[in-house]
Amino acid sequence: MDGAGEKHRNSEPLGHVGDPCIMVIFGASGDLTKRKLIPALYNLAKERLLSKAFAVIGFGRRGMSHEEFRDKCSQDIKEFATDLVDPDLWKWFIQRLYYVSGDVQDQNAYQRLQNQLAEADKKYGTQGNYLYYLATEPDLFSQIIQQIGAAGLSREENGHWRRVIIEKPFGRDFESALALNHEIRKVLSESQIYRIDHYLGKETVQNIMIFRFANGIFEPIWNRRYIDHVQITVAEDIGVGQRGGYYDKAGALRDMVPNHIFQLVTLTAMEPPISFDADAVRDEQVKILRAIQTLSHEEVLRSTVRGQYCEGAAGDQRVPAYRSEPSVPADSDTETFVALKLYIDNWRWANVPFYLRTGKRLPCRLTEIAIQFKSAPFVLFRKTSVGHLKPNLLVLHIQPDEGISLNFGAKIPGPLVRLGTVDMEFKYEDYFGSTPSTGHERLLYDCMVGDATLFQRADMVETSWNVVSTIQDVWQALPYRKFPNYEAGTWGPQEADDLMVRDGRAWRRCKQ
Ligand code: BG6
Repeated sequence: MDGAGEKHRNSEPLGHVGDPCIMVIFGASGDLTKRKLIPALYNLAKERLLSKAFAVIGFGRRGMSHEEFRDKCSQDIKEFATDLVDPDLWKWFIQRLYYVSGDVQDQNAYQRLQNQLAEADKKYGTQGNYLYYLATEPDLFSQIIQQIGAAGLSREENGHWRRVIIEKPFGRDFESALALNHEIRKVLSESQIYRIDHYLGKETVQNIMIFRFANGIFEPIWNRRYIDHVQITVAEDIGVGQRGGYYDKAGALRDMVPNHIFQLVTLTAMEPPISFDADAVRDEQVKILRAIQTLSHEEVLRSTVRGQYCEGAAGDQRVPAYRSEPSVPADSDTETFVALKLYIDNWRWANVPFYLRTGKRLPCRLTEIAIQFKSAPFVLFRKTSVGHLKPNLLVLHIQPDEGISLNFGAKIPGPLVRLGTVDMEFKYEDYFGSTPSTGHERLLYDCMVGDATLFQRADMVETSWNVVSTIQDVWQALPYRKFPNYEAGTWGPQEADDLMVRDGRAWRRCKQ
């Protein structure tokens, strides 16, 4: 190592450096590797959080030599790096990249992997610590783990660790998630399994806990006595793009709700954990999932809405209907929008509705959690020209404009009592500047240091699917006959608005 790379590596890291290890990426020639994983590892190296004793082995079907893999990564990083790439540091980094080609079902390929691991281990002193990242088709997760196990590559002995990061989707319903957990636990213990949800890599999502538990003023009012309802929106303006094949089998409910949206629900609703230890936090999250009121079949019909987009607009462009997207059947009944109302049956949240909605081809990309408080009593204003009091609203803006805002009433200057609504706004960027990242850095780093707090435990995944399964069953038994039912570029079908109107409420119309 030399030049700036050396300087980088010799200056003080910002925290405890990740353990020595080799990261094996299954599905290395795929999209996730080039868009997220390699740029994230590079960013960790730049932050001096990657051990010097580190290497990557890409494993994929495509035939490639080590050199070809390095060249490919060098090309890809130009497009996907989140910041300027330092040539010396990059040179240091790619020397540590290797590639093994093979079919994940072929035992011999694992022999080649084993040889490569041994060689890299010896060269870089990675101490036998292996981090496997499964970035393949979900159907292959179980097989890969069985093969790693059969090759003796999952055993933790002599002080080294073996960990596996598993991408979503983890199963496609309750039964399949249960079966997958059962299969992989024949080979791995729960402490070796890191089920990833990339929403937990987002700074603003991690900040929900800090916001709630590091500030004394919010917790006393964070309950049914003061909160009227919670609205969580995860809106995307894009369509399904090239992912029609996967998406058509999943749909908006499976794709977003039991994972990303439930993360937001649990972090918003959980009790303070007794510590920030992985299990202490996850125990509280799973209690919320277990407390989600089970919907009867009638309630599913009343409290959930499905939508599918037809042709419409995205900005100035005309965009096609979902049924005309690549790899989507022309008569597809898959939903691209879902809205639902849930209750959390515990002391803190009894009778406070949580309204959740997500969809593709909505007017903008926006993720936020809006906490609407109960209105102040109107009594004092009866004899004024004020018609009604608006409730206070606290909004956690997750993306793209990361921040927090509190909305309250103020007197409009003048001789009459007139009320306006004003915003107190905090924007991350104003205080902390922008921190370009892929969102995977923290999660990869946490796995390297053995911190599973931001990963899903088996019971969390199973309980989430259990909640969603009732909805899936009813939807399957009673297919929706009127798809498509919203125009691309709008806020979903009319029924989503009706769901709120029936309760005397309305969705926030977000800034676009
Ligand atoms: C993925 C879903 O998990 O999350 C996609 O499969 C979705 O359909 C994506 O687009 C959204 O992630 P983000 O980080 O862009 O909000």
